[in-house]
This record gives sequence, structure tokens and C-alpha cells, in this order.
Amino acid sequence: MNTFETSTAGLAFDRLATTYDSLFTFSAIGRSQRKVVWKLALKAFARGSHILELNCGTGQDALFLAKAGMTVTACDASLGMIEQARYKMAAEAPSATVEFIPLRTEEIRTLPQTQCFDGVFSNFSGLNCVGNLTSLAQQLSERLPSGAPLLLCFSTRYCLWEIVYFLLRGDPRKALRRWKGVSEARLDGLEFPVYYPTIAQLRSAFAPEFRLVSTTAVGLAVPPSYVESWVTSRPRLLKFLEVIDETARTWPGLRTLGDHMLLHLEKVRPCQV
Ligand SMILES: C[S@@+](CC[C@H](N)C(=O)[O-])C[C@H]1O[C@@H](n2cnc3c(N)ncnc32)[C@H](O)[C@@H]1O
Repeated sequence: MNTFETSTAGLAFDRLATTYDSLFTFSAIGRSQRKVVWKLALKAFARGSHILELNCGTGQDALFLAKAGMTVTACDASLGMIEQARYKMAAEAPSATVEFIPLRTEEIRTLPQTQCFDGVFSNFSGLNCVGNLTSLAQQLSERLPSGAPLLLCFSTRYCLWEIVYFLLRGDPRKALRRWKGVSEARLDGLEFPVYYPTIAQLRSAFAPEFRLVSTTAVGLAVPPSYVESWVTSRPRLLKFLEVIDETARTWPGLRTLGDHMLLHLEKVRPCQV
């Protein structure tokens, strides 16, 4: 039997668990950014497939994927988040084909040996809390058939919105906080490292088991969630920003400059001889 051990990030998210949905999931910006990820998830994952979700938080995506005909094994390092996810499932979709498990992403290898998946999903920066992505790639590779899709949404290293917003507010430290590639996040008094890998670093961390298929910006013109009040006081603005994103999110110079970037990777097929 697995004994669950959390991490500082997990403990920090425990403290945020009951307010996370109102602060982010149900915010106008949170909904807008998630809508983009969902659209691509429906293209990447087939109905009937079994998806492993990493850092599932309060279960919003797991329940969405289950409604779309998938089975989901959803893990998170925060017991509080897992508890919220289970409440949500009991209230909204008690028969959903989802299992919520408290488990750190670094410990995926401790899932039962017999459990294999058709794809892997991670949304909104949980993987920015994981230092060793090479080890994760190896663990995931053991559980997936060749050709299996990974849809992973990371915080970017360079977020145009954040840079301009905080520079205009005279706070260069916050404007450039992601640039070093790692920064200390502080959530409710707890500090933990958050990593901001570049595309080249991610490509190399996931190689040779996985290859990068595409990168899409999430929250390019649509801003980060901390400017929610600015957006909600201008109702038509968000629609306009979404239209810009729809057009520009895959442009080479821009796709890594949003608040988040969504990577579609694929498990490499063995060479044919
Ligand atoms: C910003 S939230 C995103 C939650 C969810 N994926 C969503 O889309 O709303 C980040 C999540 O990552 C989880 N997390 C952080 N580090 C983790 C780790 N090492 N293993 C598993 N989960 C982790 C946190 O507990 C938190 O639920």
C-alpha cells in the first residue's frame, strides 16, 4: 500500500483548496484560459481512452474529460485539493469515471504496476513545481503505448502581460520574476520553488521518449488571473482579447509569451527496420 507523503507545494495548496475555484476556476479569466485547453484536449484524447491527470487540483478538468467519454485517474500532492475534487464529483457527477488519488507527480511509479494509460494531461502549472522532469518522462513512458499524447500546460518563462503590467506599476522585481528560470513562490506563508523551463529545456527533458508536436499560447492577449477586476469591469474586452488569442496563439514568435503554454507531446514510436 502507498503511504502518501506530500510536498511543501502540496501543503501550500492545501491552504488554498477551499478558495481556489472562486479565485481562479470560476473567474472570467480562469474560464477563458481553461476553455482553450479543453478545446485542444478534445482533439488530442480519444473518447473511451484512459487519461492520467497530474496535479489535478479541484478536479475541474477530470470531470470535463469524464463527461467527454474518458476514464480519468487524477492525482495531486494536496490532500485539500483532492478533497475538494471529491466533493465536486459527489455533487455534480457521482457516476463519473474518475478516481482522485493523493499522489505527488514525482511518485507516479508507485501507482499499481498493472495501471497503464492512453494519454497524460496536466493543466495550469502543476508541473512548474516539479524539479526533475526527466525522471517524470521516464516514469510516464513506462505506462504509455507509443503514439500516446501528452498535453501539458506550463507557466511560461516570459509572459508579456506580466512584464508590461508590473513595469507600469513600478515593480521590476515582479515583472522579471520568471526570467531566472526558478523563483520562490509564497502561498499563505509557505515558500516553495517554481521552475520556468524553456521549450528547449522541456524538449530535452522529455526526449528521447517523447517528441514535441506543437506549442500553443494560453493567455497571450487574455491576461493572467490577477487582473480579473480590470477585465470584468470591461465586459466586451475579454471577448476581443480572446479573438486576438484565437488568431495569434500558434504564431512562432508568440506561442511562448503568454501566461501559459500548452505543449502537445507524443510518445515516440520505435524505429521501423
Ligand atoms: C495552479 S494548481 C492547478 C490545478 C489544476 N490542474 C487546475 O487546472 O486548476 C497547481 C496544482 O499542482 C499541485 N501540485 C504542486 N506540486 C505538485 C507535485 N509535486 N505533485 C502533484 N501535484 C502538485 C498543487 O497541489 C495544485 O493543486
